[in-house]
Amino acid sequence: MEYVGTPDAAVAAPAPGSVLRRKGGWSPLIRVVGTPHGLAVEKDYSAKPLPIRATVARLLVRREREVLRHLQGLPGIPRLLPSPDGLRIRTEYIPGRPIHRLPPDALRPEIYRRLEALVRAMHARRVVHLDLRQRKNILIRGDGQPFLLDFANAVRFRLTGGLSGWTFAQLAALDRSALLKYKNRYFPALLTDADRQQLRRHRRVRRLWLFKPHKSRAKDVIR
Ligand SMILES: Nc1ncnc2c1ncn2[C@@H]1O[C@H](COP(=O)(O)OP(=O)(O)O)[C@@H](O)[C@H]1O
Ligand SMILES: [Mg+2]
Repeated sequence: MEYVGTPDAAVAAPAPGSVLRRKGGWSPLIRVVGTPHGLAVEKDYSAKPLPIRATVARLLVRREREVLRHLQGLPGIPRLLPSPDGLRIRTEYIPGRPIHRLPPDALRPEIYRRLEALVRAMHARRVVHLDLRQRKNILIRGDGQPFLLDFANAVRFRLTGGLSGWTFAQLAALDRSALLKYKNRYFPALLTDADRQQLRRHRRVRRLWLFKPHKSRAKDVIR
């Protein structure tokens, strides 16, 4: 495979047991665990209060696992590993950095092309991610291969026609518009005239929005 990244000495593998994220409420604990299949990231709902464990947690785990299972084999989808119970999801640990943490000289066009191909392949399996705007959900491995993480909001469509087909198309367009945002921000040399037109359209729509997130303003520039 063509080498497009930079060797990333800064990304040392975390020690098993390291906690990557601990949030309250319904959110799972995310930590690195050692498994017979290698280093894994575990999304764990087992310490949540019983009412959450007994209901929504199992459902969320089952849904996310099902989507991940359906996408296995695509380059850029972490391998799903066996979990000890129905309250945890384990995926192989991917050494890399989130897209917004790449040094500028590592932002090769090939990375964006692979990201686009990955999202296209996911859509071909009729899955929409729906949380690609969250920059932490796009990890770039040291060799330049992008990975999609966090399928908690993803939806798999089984039917192709009618209302289901229409809805899928709308949601897939949302995923693509998230990609366009990354193209504009990190790979502006790849923008086409059609992309710029679409970005301008988005910007006009956003201006109509009364409460826009303050963070988006400075980055609203079309390059
Ligand atoms: N397979 C993985 N390899 C490396 N890091 C991961 C992996 N899965 C998750 N992470 C890290 O853990 C963070 C949280 O995981 P994620 O599935 O996005 O949970 P949440 O639903 O809390 O956002 C990610 O943003 C990423 O930094
Ligand atoms: Mg996430």
